[in-house]
Amino acid sequence: MTQTSPAQLTLGDKTITLPVSKGTLGPDVLDIRKLYAETDAFTYDPGFTSTASCESKITFIDGDAGVLLHRGYPIGQLAEKSSFLEVCYLLLHGELPQAAEYEQFETTITRHTMLHEQFDRFFSGFRRDAHPMAVMTGAVGALSAFYHDSLDIHDLRQREISAHRLIAKMPTIAARAFKYSVGQPFVHPLNKLSYTENFLRMCFAVPAEEYVVNPVVAKAMDRIFILHADHEQNASTSTVRLAGSSGANPFACIAAGIACLWGPSHGGANEEALNMLKEIGTPERVKEFVAGVKDRKYRLMGFGHRVYKNYDPRATVMKQSADEVLAAVGDPNDPLFQVAKELEQVALSDDFFISRKLYPNVDFYSGITLSAMGFPTTMFTVLFALARTVGWIAQWKEMIEDPSQKIGRPRQLYTGATQRDYVPISSRG
Ligand code: CMC
Repeated sequence: MTQTSPAQLTLGDKTITLPVSKGTLGPDVLDIRKLYAETDAFTYDPGFTSTASCESKITFIDGDAGVLLHRGYPIGQLAEKSSFLEVCYLLLHGELPQAAEYEQFETTITRHTMLHEQFDRFFSGFRRDAHPMAVMTGAVGALSAFYHDSLDIHDLRQREISAHRLIAKMPTIAARAFKYSVGQPFVHPLNKLSYTENFLRMCFAVPAEEYVVNPVVAKAMDRIFILHADHEQNASTSTVRLAGSSGANPFACIAAGIACLWGPSHGGANEEALNMLKEIGTPERVKEFVAGVKDRKYRLMGFGHRVYKNYDPRATVMKQSADEVLAAVGDPNDPLFQVAKELEQVALSDDFFISRKLYPNVDFYSGITLSAMGFPTTMFTVLFALARTVGWIAQWKEMIEDPSQKIGRPRQLYTGATQRDYVPISSRG
């Protein structure tokens, strides 16, 4: 971080100087830390649209240009050339691994994929029809009851072990949440498979027959994980950072992130997007549906983004994956894919969407792809949570290691009643 010319702020008869910091990319940042002490005023920014909540070196987004970089590398290059585990290493360590470092990291993650035997019993406490995200929130939070030896957030090695445990165990927990909901036996991890192949096998293998991983599906799944690995200070990541700022243990913080991700404006949007495509049903009904969006009866799910005011770079890769997966295991003429393409075309040529800079986001095509792979809609956000765990944990580690870190404690613009005296119930008019 470097300093540039400071800003002057005049408030009533007081003028103060505010330092202005410059990052390596992105807008300058007004440092208002002394504002309250010097002016007795707060800033007001609901939804944090103009607020940088932290300094970070992990992910950069230029929403106007449609750019997403992880540690400087464009998402398109990572999706095409890297693997999810390599991206995990990159997010956690800041650099792409050397061959020996990668091998060690892969071995470590592979060796942590099993769950404590008693942990498996935990699942049967949930109703069979529980939403898998409800199971995820509970189960991931419960990890802190099983791994007492990695809860000391001030110990670098324990932080590292927690990170490995979370990345490694999420696929096992997510697959169990799925298996439990469909009433099939749990499938244990198999170390000879890659991270993503192992996850697919834990989801789709049954004891009655041999399961062979389809390489096109495994590649697409790995890419989907890469596309969802991190996205700077979004709602769930900010939740993880805020929870962690109090010193809470990493498993509890990630459980908080999962709870936030479940919301339909965030990770729940892919589930909603596919439901929307099903509801539209045929390309002929797209125009009528779009008219309803313009009448503000509902939102076009999988469209629009707080930061991207251009095509979400992840959506481009996702559309390509949808094509590949449908050709390999689905129906390339899948009516829902046709609906999605028509909807995208209609929306992108309509002034309502153009003027508001609403473009497809990563969730627009992910539902169709995941559905063709065999996942029910309720699992979509679980897959997002699995992939985002590395982003959450990298951001959490960065926060703990930041010397300027403080407990997150926003203030407010109070508009409630002024001080008044208590009235006994018998005397209230
Ligand atoms: N459909 C129709 N209109 C929309 C949409 C949409 N999907 N998104 C925004 N708008 C309109 C909105 O009505 C408003 O219009 P006006 O100014 O006339 O009132 C304008 O665009 C700005 O909307 P906003 O709500 O202020 O924008 P925001 O930046 O707060 O919202 C968003 C971002 C993602 C919550 C929103 O675009 C949305 O609800 N999208 C649908 C849900 C979705 O696909 N979410 C996934 C996001 S990507 C995955 C992730 O990172 O979690």
